[in-house]
Amino acid sequence: MEIKFHGQSCFEISDGGTTVLTDPFLKPNNPIADVTGEEVEATVIAISHGHADHVADLVPVAKRTGAQCVALVELAGWLGEQGIENVSDPNFGGTVTYDWGWIKFVPAWHTNTLPDGTVIGNPAGMLINIGGKTIYHAGDTCLFGDMKLIAERNPVDIAILPIGGHYTMDRHDAVVAAQFIGADTVIPMHFNTFPPIETDAGAFKADVEGAGAGSVVVLEPGESFRA
Ligand code: NI
Ligand code: MN
Repeated sequence: MEIKFHGQSCFEISDGGTTVLTDPFLKPNNPIADVTGEEVEATVIAISHGHADHVADLVPVAKRTGAQCVALVELAGWLGEQGIENVSDPNFGGTVTYDWGWIKFVPAWHTNTLPDGTVIGNPAGMLINIGGKTIYHAGDTCLFGDMKLIAERNPVDIAILPIGGHYTMDRHDAVVAAQFIGADTVIPMHFNTFPPIETDAGAFKADVEGAGAGSVVVLEPGESFRA
């Protein structure tokens, strides 16, 4: 199983012939991304919410790859209106199963609009089970206590957490999130893309590891973690 970072909240999570792409936001829309929408693979695209920094490249990548798009029901409905035919529309608590694993949507404390500003249901975090590992991609969220419950019910191997602050929890609250979740590996996201979310990922790593809350793997866009 391999997790490749492309900046902001976009990862290619691959095992065997399957690739789960999260929150596609790529060159030139994303100033720190390493690739364009033409250069990613996807079997399934999992989308946390509708803000532009999570969906800017979604429609063309979905149409080119034919990947199934998985999102909460309201956002999934909008994807259908964009001409994407292969859509799965769970809500919180539902599990979408595949022959390679499963995806389950969990709460996130944030807001949710489409790129045109239309309010579109709730934002989400995503549990992705692939290659025998469970990954918690927290989406855009502040710190909240039910992260403990999420991880108690679905033991998490790898937690992918926003640390940039301003639009999400900052690196200090993300240390507590890592403690709540208890994953062996923590990967930071949603930082250093724009000035408001610049932060010190090395300090986050030191703080999490100092607290005994897992090993932090800081990925630059284009870098991968294998587990
Ligand atoms: Ni957002
Ligand atoms: Mn965001």
